[in-house]
Amino acid sequence: SKDWILMVTAKSPTNIAVIKYWGKRDESLILPINDSISVTLDPDHLCTTTTVAVSPSFRSDRMWLNGKEISLAGGRYQNCLREIRSRASCFEDEKKGISIRKEDWENLHLHIASYNNFPTAAGLASSAAGFACLVFALGNLMCVKEDLGAISAIARQGSGSACRSLYGGFVKWNTGYDVSGRDSIAMQLASESHWDDLVIIIAVVSSRQKETSSTAGMRESVETSTLLQYRFKEVVPKRILQMEEAIRNKDFTTFARLTCADSNQFHAVCLDTCPPIFYMNDTSHRIINYMEKWNQLEGTPQVAYTFDAGPNAVLIARNRKTAEALLQRLLFYFPPPGAELTSYVLGDVSILHD
Ligand code: PMV
Repeated sequence: SKDWILMVTAKSPTNIAVIKYWGKRDESLILPINDSISVTLDPDHLCTTTTVAVSPSFRSDRMWLNGKEISLAGGRYQNCLREIRSRASCFEDEKKGISIRKEDWENLHLHIASYNNFPTAAGLASSAAGFACLVFALGNLMCVKEDLGAISAIARQGSGSACRSLYGGFVKWNTGYDVSGRDSIAMQLASESHWDDLVIIIAVVSSRQKETSSTAGMRESVETSTLLQYRFKEVVPKRILQMEEAIRNKDFTTFARLTCADSNQFHAVCLDTCPPIFYMNDTSHRIINYMEKWNQLEGTPQVAYTFDAGPNAVLIARNRKTAEALLQRLLFYFPPPGAELTSYVLGDVSILHD
């Protein structure tokens, strides 16, 4: 019979890198030139919710993002769908009279509906939450039996940073050595409960879409920036080890120093790219300036800042008390909604889908 439908819904948070991924060694498999480390945000604040459905009555694979149909023709979607389908297992539900053999999945079509509760492509890592959620939901629907590491390697082929959103807490994405990319996977360094004093505040400087996509930006940096060459060979490997230790010891001073330095070096690489890429704007720079002064005044760092491929500031406060003081100062010096800032978003370090 053709009248059945199977559905799975999943929810995935976004993640913010504290040691940044910038540069690919393989563009189609999305293999990075360096390891990266991120924190996964609380899914209540910044997340993607995706429902995937399969039915013999569907004529083709289709997807809707925030209610609008989008094309699945791009290589990234096709790669994720192909990888998941090739790992599908059989499904039986006698009561409903549904029986899907392993080989049937190749010919069954999917309908996918996905919602972001935050602005798409504004440097808030929407693709990270999106592809993590899509691949996780599809894996469930198609009874894929592989572990989260293998699932993360599939999400990686949608968007590099997506592989890190499969886990909560602190996550490392290993560059890997294999040309197939099978060891370029994410792993959890510490769960969300390990360091739950931290509070994340995102200052939304602009919700406009960014001008240079991360894919184009990375390609140009790899081709033209000598600073990037130095960064991935000499700087990041040491920082990764130091950051892992800082997270293990909940050493906020080192954590903040490394996080800010790595964000600044990433944006310096963008400036060192030909033609230069500007992701931050005047407001971003003023926020950095303000945080640096505050940390200096306090003697020990109270807040870490980091910026991705956009002008929005991700601020990580040492604890709840600091976060309150931070929010008060931000509201005073950078009051939204105004020309400078649209809003603040709170995102505790947390986990994840069911
Ligand atoms: O995975 P992409 O293509 O969204 O690139 C992410 C790049 C940065 O956000 C700037 C850094 C990172 O590690 O997330």
